[in-house]
Amino acid sequence: MWFLGLALLGLSLLYRWYRQSQILENLSDKYVFITGCDTGFGHLLAKQLDKRGMRVLAACLTEKGAKNLKEETSSRLQTIILDVTDSRHVKSSTKWVSAIVKDKGLWGLVNNAGIGIPGGINEWLTTDDYIKILKVNLLGVIDVTINMLPMIRKAQGRVVNVGSVAGRITVCGGGYCISKHGVESFSDSLRREMLPFGVKVSIIEPGFFKTELTNPDLQKQSIKLTWEQTSEEVKRSYGAEYYRTSYGYMDSVESFCSTNLSLATDCMEHALTAVYPWTRYSAGWDSKFILIPLSYLPTVITDYLLTIGQPKPAQVS
Ligand SMILES: *[C@@H]1O[C@H](CO)[C@@H](O)[C@H](O)[C@H]1NC(C)=O
Ligand SMILES: *[C@@H]1O[C@H](CO)[C@@H](O)[C@H](O)[C@H]1NC(C)=O
Repeated sequence: MWFLGLALLGLSLLYRWYRQSQILENLSDKYVFITGCDTGFGHLLAKQLDKRGMRVLAACLTEKGAKNLKEETSSRLQTIILDVTDSRHVKSSTKWVSAIVKDKGLWGLVNNAGIGIPGGINEWLTTDDYIKILKVNLLGVIDVTINMLPMIRKAQGRVVNVGSVAGRITVCGGGYCISKHGVESFSDSLRREMLPFGVKVSIIEPGFFKTELTNPDLQKQSIKLTWEQTSEEVKRSYGAEYYRTSYGYMDSVESFCSTNLSLATDCMEHALTAVYPWTRYSAGWDSKFILIPLSYLPTVITDYLLTIGQPKPAQVS
């Protein structure tokens, strides 16, 4: 009996492996639009797909980012400056893409642009701090997707959303985890709506990676600014020690960040080039083996594990 079980498991793993190894032909015909190509995942993915011969349309936030990318890639790759929070910008980028892809349509959209600050302790933040992140990480993704969808439907292509493991389990306060939970939800409904059109929607859930998002200097600066904007009452209640610990903690985040960004960009590439892309990709060992499993545990256990080492407030009434 156990032998039968083992054989079935082996066969299903073999089937999974075979299915995921089927890669599309004619990649050089396909256009892929990627947001946030200045640094990090977007930058690496643009280079990676360009090497594969795909036609990459890379959106960068800055001229400098675009110039750097151009220098490292083939003449096939084209860049545009795009701030995803500006809907006029998004509209004009859509026109630009449409003029390039013409009747072929757009094969791939990778919603990668994202920011990580301001974040931290909920009570230290203002609603504007939340709005800043949500505008890029959530509303930006939605705006770009809705505008590009007609071209993607035409190509029966792919939407790849760069979410985060923080969209499955909330690891900190502030807008970041909220935005990534929102991206999960958007991907889920879009996936179901696009099914009849032959458009596939995937989400990438990276764990901690060493990118601008986890840059400790930026994180510390953000914690400092949010602490300074709190009222005297909040400062007294939490206390300076709480602030110092939270500030210092940002340095330790770097120590569990993976430096191998291809763990994430390989997932994105698979979602764009495989015959049968997966719905979800957890990228990084921490995401696969610690954080996603943690999200399934009873809340009391998750809460206990996530609050180990949390600083104590100065005044608890
Ligand atoms: C690949 O392109 C060639 C030439 O354009 C075409 O004949 C062939 O059908 C294409 N293959 C697929 C799988 O689309
Ligand atoms: C990075 O990850 C890829 C898998 O995506 C692997 O092939 C490669 O060897 C890794 N590189 C390093 C330096 O660990």
